[in-house]
Amino acid sequence: MRRRKYRTKPGQTMLVCSDTHWASPNCPEGGVDPQAESCMLQAMEIVKPDIFCHIGDAGEWNPASLWKFSRRKRPPVDGYILNSVDPKRCDLYEDIIAVNEGLDKIDARLTAADEYRKAAGKAVVASRRIMIEGNHEVWVDNLLLENPAFNSATNPWGKPGWSPDRLMQLKKRKWDYIPHGEVFYVGRLGMYHGGHYSTTYHAARHLAEYSSSIMYAHTHDQQSAKKATLGEPIGGWSIGCLCDMDKPFMKGKPTRWSHAFAIVHFREGGRFNVEIVEIFDGRCWVYGQEIVG
Ligand SMILES: [Fe+2]
Repeated sequence: MRRRKYRTKPGQTMLVCSDTHWASPNCPEGGVDPQAESCMLQAMEIVKPDIFCHIGDAGEWNPASLWKFSRRKRPPVDGYILNSVDPKRCDLYEDIIAVNEGLDKIDARLTAADEYRKAAGKAVVASRRIMIEGNHEVWVDNLLLENPAFNSATNPWGKPGWSPDRLMQLKKRKWDYIPHGEVFYVGRLGMYHGGHYSTTYHAARHLAEYSSSIMYAHTHDQQSAKKATLGEPIGGWSIGCLCDMDKPFMKGKPTRWSHAFAIVHFREGGRFNVEIVEIFDGRCWVYGQEIVG
């Protein structure tokens, strides 16, 4: 299969985050962890990334959840989602606002980084912004399949269409949107939301099956592995999450989830160095500087 890719330049830096699960304040399952989010935003101010990649589950999108009606009959879609011709009365409205507020914070840091590069006279000024669709965004896609009226219904931004990229205003924000399951290459590093392999040693399994360096999330845990090839070794990284990790749907099950994000430095030929920044108790270190969220 032909893969889409972004050709990096030596010296470029990418910051990668995942699983923010931004949600309505009333959402029982979702929501970002404010300290973890703050750490990542402060890291953006230090790193000033040329490339930013959110690898999915930007929103919780609980009203579209596959599981919400697992124990009872799902009502007709327009009865609980569209609700009326007023998109502000839609059950998804508060999630849409929360996700956009989260993206606004990231965009503000990226624009500041662009201005820094412009002032420094760099050849490439504009940051590349990438959103990879997560399985929670797919819940919204599935709603559209169930009720095609959404495809033309006016969304809260006064535009037609309720697809996740439209709800997140990605075109206006100048973000690329990569569909769920597609691996998008940044240099030699493949990126996707995750979920193809979620076994205990999922990083090693990804390398065994993909035979390519790969970064993903979905499992909300950190894991990495290396694999030999006849050329250079390849690596796989699961980069944790930034969401509130106290989830009622886990019903008290212990997990190895952790808060983290990744910084990737690119060298010649799309080669790269990966640094996973772990956030523990709302603290992390970036380039030797302590960040308190
Ligand atoms: Fe997630």
